[in-house]
Amino acid sequence: MKHLLKMADLESGEIINLLNLADQLKYEKKHGLMKKHLEGKTLGMIFQKASTRTRVSFEVGMYELGGYALFLSANDLQIGRGEPIQDTARVLSRYLDGIMIRTYKQSDVEALAEHGSIPIINGLTDYAHPCQALADLMTIREYKGGFKGLKLCFVGDGNNMANSLIVGGIKCGMSVSIACPKAYRPDADIMKWASENGDFVCTDDIETAIKDADIVYTDVWASMGQEGEAEKRKKAFAGYQLNTQTMSWAKKDAMVLHCLPAHRGEEITEEVFEAHANEIFDEAENRLHAQKAVLVTLMK
Ligand code: CP
Ligand code: NVA
Repeated sequence: MKHLLKMADLESGEIINLLNLADQLKYEKKHGLMKKHLEGKTLGMIFQKASTRTRVSFEVGMYELGGYALFLSANDLQIGRGEPIQDTARVLSRYLDGIMIRTYKQSDVEALAEHGSIPIINGLTDYAHPCQALADLMTIREYKGGFKGLKLCFVGDGNNMANSLIVGGIKCGMSVSIACPKAYRPDADIMKWASENGDFVCTDDIETAIKDADIVYTDVWASMGQEGEAEKRKKAFAGYQLNTQTMSWAKKDAMVLHCLPAHRGEEITEEVFEAHANEIFDEAENRLHAQKAVLVTLMK
């Protein structure tokens, strides 16, 4: 594993190794046994979109590992004034030991990896959010004890999260169902891969998708960069809310996950969110541990 660009690049065994390491790093932190695996190493963090969890967990993660993280706002970099990504990649490769980037186009992240000579980590694009998916898988395993026989249901927009959870879920051996309006399905390449490689259903019928699910996941209806479509999307997704009625179709002990930030009253009701707050905030915490596993694997 040289980079973390999208879940599709990881073998199932690599995902499990990352989750095992994440569990170990979490244990070590909780028991005062942290080790400085990345002493003297620097991570550049390029942000072209807002972030709370990703920024803070990567920065804290690097600190805990004995390294250093630089926050690089794209507005302040020459990228924001048109410096080509291939030049940025070659320059930053001379200073840094790794780059985490949050941006719009997946092709920009792939270009950084192609032209640079250091590990690149995708901190979210319009297409993928692998760091979040790894934390989600870690949380599912913590709560459920494994993946075998589990049904993971994603309700809402076929966005970066849906794309990443479909691939990650199937690679870990879960069955995956998606409930979304026809016009908002996951990316075509993901749909094709999932249909050929997994126990996979994508339907506009939310009841079919949630039926007997062990894990029900949702995300915002309008992602970063889609703010102008918010009203149109509210109408399109009106029937795709996690509420007491839709959750009644899932298994009694189903967990609810949300990558956050959450919009209560839209994709999830306050009641369902608060009933599952323990899971959701463990999931947010696990961003730190899962990403430390990624950083150690790629940069040590
Ligand atoms: N879930 C997630 O990536 O959160 P941030 O946008 O706050 O980083
Ligand atoms: N789909 C959301 C995820 C945020 C973590 C977005 O891209 O804004």
